[in-house]
This record gives sequence, structure tokens and C-alpha cells, in this order.
Amino acid sequence: MKQLAFGDKTISRPIIQGGMGVGISLGNLAGAVAKEGGVGIISTAQIGFREPDFYDCPMDANIRAIPLEFQKARAIAPKGVIGFNIMVALNGYKECCEAAVLAGADVIISGAGLPTELPKYVEGSKTLIAPIVSSKKSASVILKLWHRKYKRTADFLVIEGPMAGGHLGFSKESMEEYLENGYDDYYENEIRDIIAVVREYEDRYQHKIPVFVAGGMGQYEDLERMRSLGADGIQVATRFVTTKECDAPEAYKERYLDSKRDDIKIVSSPVGMPGRAIVNFFMEQVLEGKKFPPKRCLNCLKKCNPAEIPYCISQRLIMAASGQVEQGLLFCGANAYQEQELTTVGEVMRELCGENR
Ligand SMILES: Cc1cc2nc3c(=O)[nH]c(=O)nc-3n(C[C@H](O)[C@H](O)[C@H](O)COP(=O)(O)O)c2cc1C
Repeated sequence: MKQLAFGDKTISRPIIQGGMGVGISLGNLAGAVAKEGGVGIISTAQIGFREPDFYDCPMDANIRAIPLEFQKARAIAPKGVIGFNIMVALNGYKECCEAAVLAGADVIISGAGLPTELPKYVEGSKTLIAPIVSSKKSASVILKLWHRKYKRTADFLVIEGPMAGGHLGFSKESMEEYLENGYDDYYENEIRDIIAVVREYEDRYQHKIPVFVAGGMGQYEDLERMRSLGADGIQVATRFVTTKECDAPEAYKERYLDSKRDDIKIVSSPVGMPGRAIVNFFMEQVLEGKKFPPKRCLNCLKKCNPAEIPYCISQRLIMAASGQVEQGLLFCGANAYQEQELTTVGEVMRELCGENR
């Protein structure tokens, strides 16, 4: 495969491993992916959940865990491209970005809102930045804003489609439209339109802005199809969950392997955004309207009123990451049911790049 430049480094396989919070993509998975020539991404969402003082001062614990996980990944892939996924919707966004830069992150990828201030937080560093967008409109808005305000553009860009896991950047209505009318006809046009917007900024800044498409990408054919639309690579998350190197507990990986197509549903997260998850015992109760008032607030989301939500998203993601797979929230991509057995990062990377045919 052709090498792709990432700042002063290169990747030998055009694969970004998508950030997975809480506790699913930490230093071990990110390091393994970077070692195999892709981009390894650590999620900062409640990254400090295993620190002893986490429940007293979650923010301090999270900031402290950022360099620790980064060093873990760096020890596995001394020359690899390693970075962080930092969600705009979370409290402490600025502090997490600054800690990531200080740790030596090669890249920061930000979604769950538009990362309007991100260029400011990486100024003077070598950390590359990429927004995650789901529509032509959001691509245009963020690139125009960075151009006007900071006289710079994205170093690369991630397009996240409706087959992805975790929170989705679509309204419930547009999700239904895409899923009913077929991905190919609807979303591929959006991908082409977003790439056309990116090309304008490539011309303006006279440098390449690699584009990676995320959401349901699991096979070499997906990579080829996205390349035929003009993308440079793919961002993949779900396929890496069932690898030996993934930071999730074994019970979490087993739950993925046991899941059937019908177990995977679009659910509403407590703050109203649609998300995709495995319907386990906990989620069945939520879907029936049961409420789980939070005992304490971990102050995670900027827009959350603990008095009004059906459950605390941080608490349920932490439960899942601690192995309580029937009581926790298990985010997953639309194709999670296809995973058949525990594998390795190297094997997934080779499959995604069509190397073992
Ligand atoms: C378990 C899980 C957790 C995720 N957590 C995050 C997150 O913390 N931040 C984020 O921007 N995206 C998150 N995502 C989305 C992924 O980074 C990725 O873009 C998407 O899932 C790609 O689709 P795929 O899973 O079908 O490969 C998560 C996805 C999964 C499956």
C-alpha cells in the first residue's frame, strides 16, 4: 500500500482506528494499531475511570490519565501515529486538548459537536487536527470558520456515516431516511459532496487533506468503494473491539461476539442524540421507559440536566467497561453482529487492506 503522509510521519495502511469511550480504545489498542501502520486513537471520554480519585475529581483523574495512556501506546509503537479522540460535547474539552498536546499527541480528532476552537489549543505544536463531520453543511461550516478565524485548515478529515457506533451526528428523522432508502443512494452522495468541499480547501491551502470515511467499514471492499468516491482511507472502530489487543474487558468482547443482528438498535442517549448500541438487559428496560436516576453526577456532558435524564451515560459506559455487560451501555456499529471470533489487530488490518486474499 502507498504510504500516506501524516505531518512528519507516514502511515503504511490507510486505516484510522476510531476512538471508543469509555475505556474501549486506550493505550493498548491504539499502540497496536499504530504499530501495524495505521493511526491509533485513544478516547479521552472518562479516560481516568480507573484512577483511585476518579469519583472525587473526575476531571483531574482524566487529565492525569491522558499522558499515561499515551505513553503506553508509544511504548508499543515508538514511531507510529498515535493520537486522541476528544469530544466537543464534553466538559473539559479545552483541558483535554491541551493535555493531549503536552503528552505529544500526533493527532487530535474531534466530533460530537463542531471543534470551533481546536486550532487555538494546538497552536505552536506539531499535533495535527481533524474534525468529524456527517454532512456537507457541517464540513463547510467548520472549514470556513477555521479559515476565517485561524487562517488554517484541517490536516485531515473524518466523515462519519449512519452505520457508525456510539453517538451519531444525525437527527432521528434523517437516520430513518438513510436506513430506509439505502446507504448507497443517499449517503454516498453526501460523501461526494463533503469531499468536494475539502477539495476547495486543498486548492486554497495547496496541500492534501486526506479524507477517511467511518461507519460500517469492515472489509477491503469498503476501503475500495470509499476510494472510488475520492476518499483516502477509512476509520474503523467496531472491528477492533473483538481483538486481543482491545482495552475492553473479555466479557465485553464476548457480548459483541454473541450479538445478533436484531440485538443492535438505534437508541436515544440521555441527552436526546441518537446512538447505536447492543440491546442488553439494561437497554431493554430503558426502551420500556424505565428510569435510572443518577446517584451522582460526573459532570461529563456540557448539555445535561441530571434531574431530567433517564440514566447517566458515563455511569453506564463505565459499567460496561468494567465488565458489567448486562447493566452497562454497549455502543457498537451496525455490523457488530458479524464478528465471529476473537482476532488480532494485525489480522484485522490485513483484512481491511485486502492483504490476505
Ligand atoms: C464502543 C464505541 C465507542 C465509541 N466512542 C466514541 C467516542 O468516544 N468518540 C467518538 O467520537 N466516537 C466514538 N465512537 C465512534 C467511532 O469512533 C467510529 O467513528 C465509528 O464507530 C465507526 O463505525 P464502525 O464502528 O462501524 O467502524 C464509538 C464507537 C463505538 C463502537
